[in-house]
Amino acid sequence: VNPFKIAVIPGDGIGPEVIAEGVKVLKYIQSVDESVSFEFEYFPWGCEYYVEHGKMMDDDGIERLKQFDAIYLGAVGYPGVPDHISLWDLLLRIRKSFDQYVNVRPIKLLNGAPTVLKDVTPEDINMLVIRENSEGEYAGAGDRLFQGKPHEVALQTGVFSRKGTERIIRYAFDIAQKEKRSLTSISKANALNYSMVFWDEVFEEVSKDYPDVETHSYLVDAASMFFVMDPKRFEVVVTSNLFGDIITDLGAGITGGMGLAAGANLNPERDFPSMFEPIHGSAPDIAGKQIANPLATLWSASQMLEFFGQNEWAEKVLSLIEKMLVDKTVLTPDLGGTASTSEVGDHMVQLLKQL
Ligand code: NAD
Ligand code: IPM
Ligand code: MN
Repeated sequence: VNPFKIAVIPGDGIGPEVIAEGVKVLKYIQSVDESVSFEFEYFPWGCEYYVEHGKMMDDDGIERLKQFDAIYLGAVGYPGVPDHISLWDLLLRIRKSFDQYVNVRPIKLLNGAPTVLKDVTPEDINMLVIRENSEGEYAGAGDRLFQGKPHEVALQTGVFSRKGTERIIRYAFDIAQKEKRSLTSISKANALNYSMVFWDEVFEEVSKDYPDVETHSYLVDAASMFFVMDPKRFEVVVTSNLFGDIITDLGAGITGGMGLAAGANLNPERDFPSMFEPIHGSAPDIAGKQIANPLATLWSASQMLEFFGQNEWAEKVLSLIEKMLVDKTVLTPDLGGTASTSEVGDHMVQLLKQL
């Protein structure tokens, strides 16, 4: 069979620790299913690479990644290298170069997962956040004027193109329509008088093509409050790059924490590889201790399997994550357990064997 070609970028901090478990599980799957084959190639890019070579990735890095079906990434960023360099030269560069304009982040309370909220059940938190991932507040446009002077000014310009705004909103409507769920737009037109007024207009326009989809629109501040106080209001959610970044960490906070939050960076046209990664960072505070939770990275692997059309395996992995949360026997300390990162991966393989 034709192998799915996966570029593995473990990256920094806990990145390599959690990615090792994801690759372990994928390798197990290919060992028992002769209709599935993966080809892994590792790229040592990240902050250590930067310290050694003065760059986060090779000059021809983007060109080399083009031939892959998917990128599986751990985390990028580490004390010692300024975050705006490490992230812009690796993670954000990949998202932009490959026009991965859709960031799909499930905010879903799995069975057995702990939540800080009172009296909520998995039925109450089941959202799919569709984050714009190519422009907006992350356009990288701006300037530093009069540096060091008392009248110094820093400018950061959001860029919301019609093409960029319309395609992400349309993508979210398509999902909501297909899944027969409501769609909520999260914006902030009361203060952001150009970009978010435009966003709301486009949302309104596009909604006319989807008369069967129930829509809602929230300001991001109020939405943040309702994420915590009444999360069941939200089903499919579409929002801008920065708001999506922030509300998905908030979402992680109500569904078991960063160790359980997964994301897919998609180029839906498949002109370029898509990228799968946990939404957490390199967690320098726990790196190197083998206590990082790899379940978010396994969930991202499940998203990658779905992207490859391997829906059965995708569902198996996700349902076994849920089983591990319910059983509570092999979990990392962030979820109240005592298992190591690799014990969690090993256990997932054991459970797959028993299926
Ligand atoms: P972080 O997500 O790395 O960590 C936040 C908190 O969550 C920490 O207390 C950490 O220990 C905990 N945590 C994160 N992942 C965990 C896991 N798998 N298991 C258990 N606990 C986990 O965010 P931060 O500390 O703000 O950022 C650290 C670095 O990572 C920075 O350089 C930042 O720019 C970068 N970052 C990278 C990405 C990415 O590569 N996609 C995402 C976010 C942050
Ligand atoms: C994420 C991260 C990145 C983002 C950072 C590291 C640039 O926080 O993937 O959520 O803001 O998109
Ligand atoms: Mn983030």
